Amino acid sequence: MNRLLLAALTCTMAFSANAQERVLNLYSARHYQTDEALYANFTKATGIRINRIEAGDDPLLERVRNEGANSPADVIMLVDAARLHNAQQTGLFQPVKSALLESRIPADLRDAQGHWFAFSTRARVIVFNKAELRPSDVATYEQLAEPGLKGRVCTRSGSHPYMLSLVAAMTEHLGEQRAEAWARGVVANFARKPAGGDTDQITAVAAGQCGAALTNTYYLVRLMKSNRPQDREVVAKVGVVWPNQAGWGTHLNVSGAGVARHAPNRESAVRFLEYLASDDAQRYFADGNNEWPTVKGVKIKNDALASMGEFKADNLGAGVYGRLTPVAQRIVDRAGWR
Ligand SMILES: [Fe+2]
Repeated sequence: MNRLLLAALTCTMAFSANAQERVLNLYSARHYQTDEALYANFTKATGIRINRIEAGDDPLLERVRNEGANSPADVIMLVDAARLHNAQQTGLFQPVKSALLESRIPADLRDAQGHWFAFSTRARVIVFNKAELRPSDVATYEQLAEPGLKGRVCTRSGSHPYMLSLVAAMTEHLGEQRAEAWARGVVANFARKPAGGDTDQITAVAAGQCGAALTNTYYLVRLMKSNRPQDREVVAKVGVVWPNQAGWGTHLNVSGAGVARHAPNRESAVRFLEYLASDDAQRYFADGNNEWPTVKGVKIKNDALASMGEFKADNLGAGVYGRLTPVAQRIVDRAGWR
């Protein structure tokens, strides 16, 4: 055998050995420590190794766009319905046909063509300082803009996806003009300039720096489950309401994923999505990160999450959030909700 042929053969063998080691390139914007176990269990069950690229939604999406057809991304996981919708609109996902995913994930929590699937939900609730306010003072999102709460409202930046989706929902319900008036009212009620994340708003409410704030449920439940004395103290001081129960319901958002358009490991990617819809993985979203599973009937072991009880949810769907997010961004900009 001549040397060149041997070299070529060795090269082919090395390549196929490589190809046999199954990998999955996961681009994830989820930012929760507890997700580690979620990924480890997938590898244990399938032998597929996960290469994880983690970044915020925007940098992550920009990276996939820049990589174009050469992108190694197999699965893209995002938080926020509008992001999922926009990623789909800009062609970052490919459609997936999976009887398992279609039967497990309710139709309103996935794209009809299978570009993405929601695997967990979270609600945006109002927390308030129990020594200062009553639940009836903050029973609706609209009340956060009422003059009675002047100097009492804390929020994170209006440009954050969690806020933009809420403002998009308000825009859908109220129309752009009234939604902007609402945003201006909230800004006029600020106790302080928007700063920090949702947990910072909860602790500021407990400390009496603000009377009320908005947060995703899992941040609150995380504090409820904590054994740290300072967290227990925070939880003791704040009350929580499901906003707009007498009306359109409490704003619901999702975390989800889809198979990347140019996925080099498509089969592993679909398998990973199917794994995320399994009872075990669904339990992780609930028990690990305090989100609600999207698969119905999954038994969870999270007393704090369960203690929050049932509520009427406003799930307008990713299409609405996606379509109205640019409007929401203009509203928060004009209102000075920075
Ligand atoms: Fe978050």
